[in-house]
Amino acid sequence: EMTPEEIAFQTRIDRGEKIEPKEWMPEGYRKMLVRQIGQHAHSEIVGQLPEGNWITRAPTLERKAILLAKVQDEAGHGLYLYCAVETLGISRDELMERLHSGDMKYSSIFNYPTLTWADMGAVGWLVDGAAIINQVPLQRTSFGPYGRAMIRICKEESFHQRQGYAIMMKMAAGTPEQKRMAQDALNRLWYPTLMMFGPSDKDSVHSAQSMAWKIKMNTNDELRQKFVDQTVPQAELIGLTVPDPNLKWNEEKGGYDFSEPDWNEFYDVLAGNGPCNKDRLGARVKAWEDGAWFREALVAHADKKAARPYA
Ligand code: 3HC
Repeated sequence: EMTPEEIAFQTRIDRGEKIEPKEWMPEGYRKMLVRQIGQHAHSEIVGQLPEGNWITRAPTLERKAILLAKVQDEAGHGLYLYCAVETLGISRDELMERLHSGDMKYSSIFNYPTLTWADMGAVGWLVDGAAIINQVPLQRTSFGPYGRAMIRICKEESFHQRQGYAIMMKMAAGTPEQKRMAQDALNRLWYPTLMMFGPSDKDSVHSAQSMAWKIKMNTNDELRQKFVDQTVPQAELIGLTVPDPNLKWNEEKGGYDFSEPDWNEFYDVLAGNGPCNKDRLGARVKAWEDGAWFREALVAHADKKAARPYA
């Protein structure tokens, strides 16, 4: 049974109005935003690790510079999103605490290793490609600060996807060994990328409420389908094969039929048992602890400055 405020709030949402931080919102709306935007921000920050692994190993200076710029962008995306979620009354320290304790998640895709240079292509092409499909609709989400952050992030994300596809194109057209590396990267990252869109709709815990509040604008399966329909022709164009024997164009659906990812693997990775969960969280905890002295110094400096009488 909705209270008069909740009815008035839902009317604002249905009218497509933006909700700003200081305005009244149901506690459940606030909680769902903290969860989704906080985990989105964590994904950006943790997502720097698999790619960071290849900055010192890039094959040319140009590739190194491009990868450095992309990883730097991800840090910026994380900061925009942390600022958006802090408007809801949660502190940065609490967000980091909940990431480190496993209480908050980050995207499962980052728990997979990046074993060869071709993975830098596949991550840009597939993972950032999926992120674009997921983030473009979020520009219209009902919470003002989140939608505005998405507009900025989507602009930068398309560069990420293009540079990844350019790597894959080059390697697929390269020596047989390079083409094998590109195909191997696609084989290993295809299904984990499909998992980025979340469980199938029938198993999605939050979708119904999230879509009623226009936090999430499309269902998980809708966006996953969009990703497959967009990506399969891109793979074929450069002579790579999507590792799915059941992949087939379905005329009346106007899209591909395809095999679902292994959902047991998905929930296993979410439970912390993916190939790299421990390394990723360990790296984040270490970075946080190694940076404690710097944060303390900043605060001490700011306190001293604040205490100093006006010069
Ligand atoms: N990895 C980790 N957790 C996932 C997940 C994934 N791929 N997919 C779903 N989950 C979690 C959900 O967070 C939820 O758990 P929680 O209650 O503890 O939060 C549970 O599984 C059930 O899933 P639901 O479908 O019910 O959850 P949502 O309605 O939140 O849908 C989502 C999941 C589609 C990821 C949605 O949260 C979303 O769109 N988030 C914003 C986008 C985002 O976070 N993208 C991360 C990709 S990485 C990225 O964008 C960086 C780029 O630069 C590469």
